[in-house]
Amino acid sequence: MCGIIGYVGDKNCARILVDSLKTLEYRGYDSAGIVVVNGKLEVKKAVGRVAGLESQIDYSTFNGTTGMAHTRWATHGKPSVPNSHPHFDQSGTVAVIHNGIIENFAELKSGLLSRGHVFASETDTEVVSHLIGENYSSDSTLEEAVAKTLPLLHGSYALGVVSSRDPGKIVAVRKSSPLVIGVGKGENFIASDVPAFLAHTNKALVVDDGELAVLTPRSVEVFRRGKRVKKDVWKVTWTPEAAKLGGYPYFMLKEIEEQPATIPRVVAQNEAGIRRVAAKLKGAKRVVMLACGTSRHAALIGRYILMKDAGIYCDVMLASEFSHFAQSMDRGTVIIAISQSGETADVMDAVRSAKARGVCVYSIVNVLGSTLTRESDGVIYMQAGPEVGVAATKSFSATVLMFSLLSLALQGRYRKDAKGFVDGAAALVKKTIEDNRGTVKALAEELKGSPAVYFIGRGINFATAIEGALKFKEISYIHAEGMPAGELKHGTLSLVEKGVPVVTINPADDTYEETVSNTMEVRAREGLVIGVSDRPNKIYDRFIRIPEGADPLLYPLLSTVPLQMLAYYVGVARGNDVDKPRNLAKSVTVK
Ligand code: AGP
Repeated sequence: MCGIIGYVGDKNCARILVDSLKTLEYRGYDSAGIVVVNGKLEVKKAVGRVAGLESQIDYSTFNGTTGMAHTRWATHGKPSVPNSHPHFDQSGTVAVIHNGIIENFAELKSGLLSRGHVFASETDTEVVSHLIGENYSSDSTLEEAVAKTLPLLHGSYALGVVSSRDPGKIVAVRKSSPLVIGVGKGENFIASDVPAFLAHTNKALVVDDGELAVLTPRSVEVFRRGKRVKKDVWKVTWTPEAAKLGGYPYFMLKEIEEQPATIPRVVAQNEAGIRRVAAKLKGAKRVVMLACGTSRHAALIGRYILMKDAGIYCDVMLASEFSHFAQSMDRGTVIIAISQSGETADVMDAVRSAKARGVCVYSIVNVLGSTLTRESDGVIYMQAGPEVGVAATKSFSATVLMFSLLSLALQGRYRKDAKGFVDGAAALVKKTIEDNRGTVKALAEELKGSPAVYFIGRGINFATAIEGALKFKEISYIHAEGMPAGELKHGTLSLVEKGVPVVTINPADDTYEETVSNTMEVRAREGLVIGVSDRPNKIYDRFIRIPEGADPLLYPLLSTVPLQMLAYYVGVARGNDVDKPRNLAKSVTVK
């Protein structure tokens, strides 16, 4: 999961590239590099964040009207200056940036070494730059050299290639890693994601797998197997501000607090798309939801919503586990794939395997033009706007609401009730955020030194427990475990002693009394009981109050939002960069 950006146009591009790279840092932030073409290839590289790279650049001298930049999430080779992109060919006249993994790089590298090539890095990407250099003979174009190299590569890649021999050009190719083109006036961009060029143009086109793009200041040509293909240019509805902090200290807080504004937008979409998916669910022999991480937790909630409200039973499967069950999928199965990024490799792998078995795949996605949107039989968009923080927050709430919309469509109530339902949910989320800011901040101070925190819940609230635990641990770096409340006594209770924090997700639904009993088991061991409920109870040592009288199927959403806040404030209290938690990335495009 790396971030790539390239510019070819009439302006000095170094600052443009650095500013654009900052919007891509959520994709990986181990190291960064930039190359500009000005007669030769001039390069800067730095370990760590883009700011460190920028501190090395004197914009008055480091310039060119063609260039590329890259922010890295290390796969092959540790974070270091030599391993940072871009990488060069043997002659130093070709530069490459890459997002993905070249699976046969070792074999290719030994061939190159036997032909006298010398390498500066441990990366798989540098093999690509050397091969392109080898194929870039004096009578071939840069795009011909790239096209000749691609059949040698196994794995995934979004590549950007420039050369000092052909200064006003970028060649870009894509296979299983995201690549979009920003179409400007007298300038064009390549990027991993749309926000990178939104400050310059809102016109975009997507490069599909197997396509090669050639960009100059005034042209974008896309080819497939050497033949020119026509690509639709679409107008991006996201604004540059949406991808900016807007006065918040971190994107995570901004995205938590903007949920009352993003939730109502889930209905601002293709109603026919919702109805089509709903009809497919109705006619399915079997429904399986596929996702990872937070998206899976939202699917676990969606499962209850579709079952209780619309009588549709669904399985929920971790996408990374799908291959072990693929043979049980057949044409009667309908799959709902859920992914904020639309690029998660585990999800894409599972979707491709399912489609190969003739299974219908519909997807719930946030990122416009992402790979999953183009490989699904139908897409419904979360409409949550760019989610930059690595922690999934507003995409979670949008997905949960999406299942309510599907349920309303299945009940024939969509047109009458959808808007009122989401507006009501948004108001309840807003109240929950406002009522609990102070409580959560104080609780965060109390928990920031805990060695571990446990989250328990029953039924639909189990999904909240595991989502709360995931948010907590990925942002605070404190171990956290979510589990069914009924499971606590079957082992984990041995870890509960005086002061151990246990968050009990206990709204006044049909799980309330049994969860009270499980919570009493914690109190009997003097654990620190943190109740999340619309009903106060003296068994709680601390209390996060959610609004009373909500639709019980909204309880998971209303309970999760304060837990998102708790994770955020504990992370900040511990001095973590909560937008870019260590070792993680926003889009996990490796299996
Ligand atoms: C959630 O906070 C994490 N960042 C992670 O679990 C994420 O939900 C998971 O990687 C799935 O991402 P996706 O929705 O883009 O597929």
